[in-house]
Amino acid sequence: MNFIALTTNILVLNIFFVYGKKYEPNWDSLDKRPLPQWYDDAKIGIMMHWGVYSVPSAAGGEWFWGVWGHYGHPNSNSSQSKFMRNNYPPQFTYQDFARYFTAEFFNPDDWADLFENSGAKYITLTTKHHEGFTLWPSTYSPNWNAKDVGPNRDLVGELAKAVRSRNITFGTYYSLYEFYNPIEGKDKRNHHKTNEYIRRKMFPEMLELVEKYKTEIIWVDGDWEGKAEYWNSTGFLAWLYNESPVKDTVVVNDRWGLKLKGHHGDFWNLKDNFASVTLIKHKWEGTRTLDLWSWGYRRNMNLDSLVPTKDLIRLLVRDVSCGGNFVMNIGPTHDGRIDLVFQERLLDVGKWLKINGEAIYKTRYWTYQNDTVSQFVWYTKGQSAVYAIAIEWPKENVLQLGSANELFVNKKPIVTMLGYPDKLKWTITNTPNKTVSITFPNRATVKGEWAWALKIK
Ligand SMILES: *[C@@H]1O[C@H](CO)[C@@H](O)[C@H](O)[C@H]1NC(C)=O
Ligand SMILES: *[C@@H]1O[C@H](CO)[C@@H](O)[C@H](O)[C@H]1NC(C)=O
Ligand SMILES: *[C@@H]1O[C@H](CO)[C@@H](O)[C@H](O)[C@H]1NC(C)=O
Ligand SMILES: *[C@@H]1O[C@H](CO)[C@@H](O)[C@H](O)[C@H]1NC(C)=O
Ligand SMILES: *[C@@H]1O[C@H](CO)[C@@H](O)[C@H](O)[C@H]1NC(C)=O
Repeated sequence: MNFIALTTNILVLNIFFVYGKKYEPNWDSLDKRPLPQWYDDAKIGIMMHWGVYSVPSAAGGEWFWGVWGHYGHPNSNSSQSKFMRNNYPPQFTYQDFARYFTAEFFNPDDWADLFENSGAKYITLTTKHHEGFTLWPSTYSPNWNAKDVGPNRDLVGELAKAVRSRNITFGTYYSLYEFYNPIEGKDKRNHHKTNEYIRRKMFPEMLELVEKYKTEIIWVDGDWEGKAEYWNSTGFLAWLYNESPVKDTVVVNDRWGLKLKGHHGDFWNLKDNFASVTLIKHKWEGTRTLDLWSWGYRRNMNLDSLVPTKDLIRLLVRDVSCGGNFVMNIGPTHDGRIDLVFQERLLDVGKWLKINGEAIYKTRYWTYQNDTVSQFVWYTKGQSAVYAIAIEWPKENVLQLGSANELFVNKKPIVTMLGYPDKLKWTITNTPNKTVSITFPNRATVKGEWAWALKIK
């Protein structure tokens, strides 16, 4: 090594140690960060919308205040205004709801047990939705947080501790936008030439959330209200990826500014309830609410607005096969319960995953997503096997596969059905395309329902 090379090396090392900064606050640099592997391995998550809106828990859900209006519109015909007129005294404000957000039945260990039994490997809790109310005692949101009003508890801290004791990763949702924050309103009137809301409220609050709770998912929302430049998104992410206590493990979604969905972030959400039936090579998350009409709890929910278990399993299988993670959203109640019907759905999914988890967790997408001949069969790839997951039972108990030839022709794979003890018989038909036919067991002898995973090894 000559002198010049040596000094250059020392210089480079010095620069690295002095600044220690791998990522610059621009998208080109931030986009180079590799996805932390745990997220792609985890596959299954639960999102929860919980806040002051869980008190009225009426039409509009988590948007209740936004559609009702700041001081209410006594003459407006919106269903929220009618609801308030018919059920509350005229002077009742949205803030008055906060004291009824009691959470007296909230037992974080019970929730964590439920999540564990649902097979979820991570959760994402709304720590602040558009209403601005924080579920932790935010320094920057006095008297509008769960410690000062309502439950008088640090809901974020309590839940983080309980889920982590079960090896479930703790993640948080945070809305950039707030419905009626006056400082944000002022910035808006200034056409975002000022950024007082970012400096005084949002940015310090996000730092507090990360530093205090070491959250490993930052799921932002309300992005459409401003450009990424206003939100200081690249500034926040550079801090998060370089310096934060979770810099090596944290993952973020894609809602970092107006029209940026599907462009940046460790995983993409694209839009609410997004689904894909074709491969998306960038990591994505299908985030689905179990009550189709709301993300927060609605007391007036009906069974027909609930996604049936069978559909959930199908979505789960399709998402994973197409490179996505699968997340189910539920709205807990104001008093800290998780509705029985949500519990039942989550446990159903858990029951399915207990048998079929091997075809889901830690897998990657395969060459084909669904089969060319049996389009209801979706593939995943494990460490040493390919899984073909049938979301319908095949006609006459024989499954025809058109995309799996490379696993069968001139090979002798063993085909099993997860949860079923015996090997399955298969043949290659003598058609030009060499379709593979696999004989399913008698349906009455098979344990699982909803979808059946074949292991081809
Ligand atoms: C509410 O509905 C009534 C009857 O349709 C209508 O006359 C009135 O203008 C509406 N009020 C508002 C604020 O839209
Ligand atoms: C959590 O994971 C760690 C490390 O993988 C393991 O040692 C521990 O037993 C796990 N705990 C539970 C409760 O599963
Ligand atoms: C933007 O982010 C950077 C951190 O990368 C920070 O130093 C700066 O203060 C932030 N700006 C505002 C307005 O919050
Ligand atoms: C399955 O694959 C076919 C192509 O083989 C494609 O046209 C179709 O959209 C895919 N998805 C579904 C849900 O069938
Ligand atoms: C066989 O493969 C060809 C070419 O890939 C395709 O056009 C044809 O539809 C296939 N036939 C069957 C029965 O799958």
